[in-house]
Amino acid sequence: MYRKVDHIGIAVKDMERAKEIFRNLGLEVESEEVVEDQKVRVAFIPVGDARMELLEPTAPDSPVARFIEKRGEGVHHVALGVEDVEAVLEKLKTKGVKLIDERPRVGAHGTLIAFLHPKSTGGILLELCQEK
Ligand code: CO
Repeated sequence: MYRKVDHIGIAVKDMERAKEIFRNLGLEVESEEVVEDQKVRVAFIPVGDARMELLEPTAPDSPVARFIEKRGEGVHHVALGVEDVEAVLEKLKTKGVKLIDERPRVGAHGTLIAFLHPKSTGGILLELCQEK
């Protein structure tokens, strides 16, 4: 049901500064876009098969802005690549797993994504993501 760790989401206050930090480590941003739905600017940094996803809030009421306020910059979520988000959500629901998204929504690059509730994952924000 799970294919791989797709990406690790990292909350940043200042995208340009974050890109500079990663560039200094020898990692380059491959693509960048704004996801209106989540009020974030997203930049992807490929690392082998996986990616880092830098997340910069575009508004004070962005969920990522609230995350930074509470917990500071750093790891925000881990995303697991799946074949079929809807099927996985159905399966997890029957096991009583708490979901943030009952249904998949559209994420960066037109992927289908859904977040699981940290109460059911030992405190980690887990994203399921399905490539289109
Ligand atoms: Co993500």
